[in-house]
Amino acid sequence: MALRLGDEAPNFQAETTEGSIDFHQWLGDQWGVLFSHPADYTPVCTTELGAVSKIKEEFSKRNAKIIAISVDPLTDHQGWVKDINETQQTTMNFPIIADPGRLVATLYDMIHPNADDKMTVRSVFVIGPDKKIKLTLTYPASTGRNFQEILRVMDSLQLTAKYQVATPANWQHGEDCIIVPAVLNEEIPRLFPKGHREIKPYLRYTPQPNK
Ligand code: BEZ
Repeated sequence: MALRLGDEAPNFQAETTEGSIDFHQWLGDQWGVLFSHPADYTPVCTTELGAVSKIKEEFSKRNAKIIAISVDPLTDHQGWVKDINETQQTTMNFPIIADPGRLVATLYDMIHPNADDKMTVRSVFVIGPDKKIKLTLTYPASTGRNFQEILRVMDSLQLTAKYQVATPANWQHGEDCIIVPAVLNEEIPRLFPKGHREIKPYLRYTPQPNK
């Protein structure tokens, strides 16, 4: 069955370009981003891995580890990493899981047979420090992902985990947040000392609490 938000991220052992891992141990108490690639030596995937390697620091700043997966063997990954470094002018700095037996791809429901029965789709799982799934995304093989959007969602997830706020459409770090409906008006001065504005009783904004 497909994994849903709030489910525990399944654990697994795997070979990666940075050695063998037990996924949960590798995550430790950090956030995690697991993202799949349809196949090695493919053009869109090559650009994606290069792009992520250039912004790895942004994930580290958010206390998050990032790991890719492709259903090809480790020897293929090792050759492909050289191509990624060469063509994307980068140095790969995070692991790629080798999953030739499709164990992880199956565990995370990354193969959608009606789209393609051999390759994975482009899945993204954001996993919290509690090992629960906080976000899932599914893109087709033909569309490269926007990793700035994944960073943006992580900012929202980390903020809303700590404060009783939600983030509005197209929100970016630093912009006003929405006070969740469960907060009573009389609680607002204590919870949100920076102030608030009420557009409707159910639509109340406050400056980002942790900025
Ligand atoms: C790619 O990564 O370029 C790709 C992979 C599978 C299908 C289409 C594109």
